[in-house]
Amino acid sequence: MCGIVAALAARNVQGILLEGLKRLEYRGYDSAGMAVLNEAGALTRQRAKGKVAALEEKLVHGALTGRIGIAHTRWATHGKPSEVNAHPHLARERLAIVHNGIIENFEPLKRELEGDGVVFESETDTEVVAHLIARAFVETDDLLAAVQTTLDRIDGAYALAVMHADAPREIVGARKGSPLVVGVGIDENFLASDALALLQVTDRFIYLQEGDVVRLSDNRGIEIVAADGSPAERPVHAFEHGDSAASRGEYRHFMLKEIHEQPAVIAATLEGRLSGSHVLESSFGVGARGLFERVAQVHIVACGTSYHAGMVARYWLEKLAGLPTTVEVASEYRYREVVVPADTLFVTLSQSGETADTLAALRYAKSRAKTSGYLGALAICNVPGSSLTRESDLALMTQAGPEIGVASTKAFTTQLVALMLLTLSLRKSRGDERETTLVQALRGLPTVLDSALAMDGPIAELSEAFAEKHHALFLGRGTQFPIALEGALKLKEISYIHAEAYPAGELKHGPLALVDADMPVVAVAPNDELLEKLKSNLQEVRARGGELFVFADEGVALTAADNLRVLHVPAVDEFLAPIVYTIPLQLLSYHVAVLKGTDVDQPRNLAKSVTVE
Ligand code: M6R
Repeated sequence: MCGIVAALAARNVQGILLEGLKRLEYRGYDSAGMAVLNEAGALTRQRAKGKVAALEEKLVHGALTGRIGIAHTRWATHGKPSEVNAHPHLARERLAIVHNGIIENFEPLKRELEGDGVVFESETDTEVVAHLIARAFVETDDLLAAVQTTLDRIDGAYALAVMHADAPREIVGARKGSPLVVGVGIDENFLASDALALLQVTDRFIYLQEGDVVRLSDNRGIEIVAADGSPAERPVHAFEHGDSAASRGEYRHFMLKEIHEQPAVIAATLEGRLSGSHVLESSFGVGARGLFERVAQVHIVACGTSYHAGMVARYWLEKLAGLPTTVEVASEYRYREVVVPADTLFVTLSQSGETADTLAALRYAKSRAKTSGYLGALAICNVPGSSLTRESDLALMTQAGPEIGVASTKAFTTQLVALMLLTLSLRKSRGDERETTLVQALRGLPTVLDSALAMDGPIAELSEAFAEKHHALFLGRGTQFPIALEGALKLKEISYIHAEAYPAGELKHGPLALVDADMPVVAVAPNDELLEKLKSNLQEVRARGGELFVFADEGVALTAADNLRVLHVPAVDEFLAPIVYTIPLQLLSYHVAVLKGTDVDQPRNLAKSVTVE
């Protein structure tokens, strides 16, 4: 939810930290700040409300100079967005800290510190941690030990980086519930919430594990202590995606770039996972085959866009694999007394692999594994080394590459492809004609998506009909209902237009009352078995004077009229239609947002990775 970057280098670190913050801004953009220890041994700090650009402006007039520093871009949880609440926070003018996450027991700890005479500057939970570490440092004279002592006292989720003027060539980091990576350089090392932040200085990373505490220092290099207090060795990974992932290239926004990357990343997600005319279930990891053979039902848990992917998969798993399937948002699942029938596969979906509710749901399911019917946990995820993949029994990585736009696009369609691979792998009748046809259709999907992207021009034109509206309704049936939900989520998230989605058959049970000339209605209408029913639902809208925008196959007999616009979407196997129909809805929300002049990649109040509950 917030972005952390820290550097211990042999050169001035301001530029490295600033570039890192720009690359992390997708994680939060309420305020930003930086602290650097200067050559005189004093902590210097600049902070600004708003985006990293505001901090950069301050640094033009008040540059920070030094070879060690920490920086932060914030998504506010405790305390409003303001300069005084911006990180880094200081304690005793000798210690600086940046923190991502929530300290749940900060109130009693704050009272305790106030009792000791500490005066707080901000409303944040982070400042409590700063003072606790500073107090422990006085006793231990060792920054790593002081951090460990403090972490023993705090509850909640965090990633943090700390430096102290009296340990001038050390940075200590820790993670529990929020991501933190070590960037391994040559005679210099770094910390960040995401490897992307450090690609300008290194392409080698250590992904810290839950409970790890790390010390970067000149004389001892990188020391990692595991949650149980023992020294730990963690592998160094080379970053695979290259630095272009962190730049917009020729595109005006990351979101547009990521929409256009979909044919390529879907091809990458399929690569090595299909053999001839069948799916290689070994792609899901060692032991997948034995486990899949026993699966009698599936529980899918996720949040937001990932949840919508799970909703599509439910139709597939039930129809193609005959498996009873439930799909639930993680924030509800984690607090429910879930009844788990025997031989249930637990599946989580997540772009980031760090979403707090999804992780908590996985841990809840695992805690019940012995007494419930769960066979095992599978994560479908986009970030290698993320908590979700490490804590699951099986993992299938989508190959979307880094997704920077807060609105999820390519992560969603690659999840759908991964879920189709799962569906085919779970079918009892493997290798039949249905699998052959679908594998062929999957192989051809990138080409179909290229054609869907060619709808960009007409959709940009269509978007004008939405830019002045305050509400919109999205309709779909069957697998297209979750696509309608996803279309509505995209529109509201980046254009701030209130949008709702309904299964079209529900219209007459209430929402029809909303329909008038000011309420554009978008319908997704592929040529499937529910098409005729959907057409009747659309007549209900037209009869009430609603303005209809229908995305349909060429073959669908719908003729444009006064209040009916039809846009043709390339035809594809009906099971893959949800993937193809997603593209025009993504483009629609994008163009409406551009017309409205909103911040497409960093919409207000949101952040990319929701690592707090
Ligand atoms: O990283 P995750 O897939 O677990 O994130 C879940 C949601 O926060 C996410 O899909 C969110 O709804 C999207 N950014 C919306 O576009």
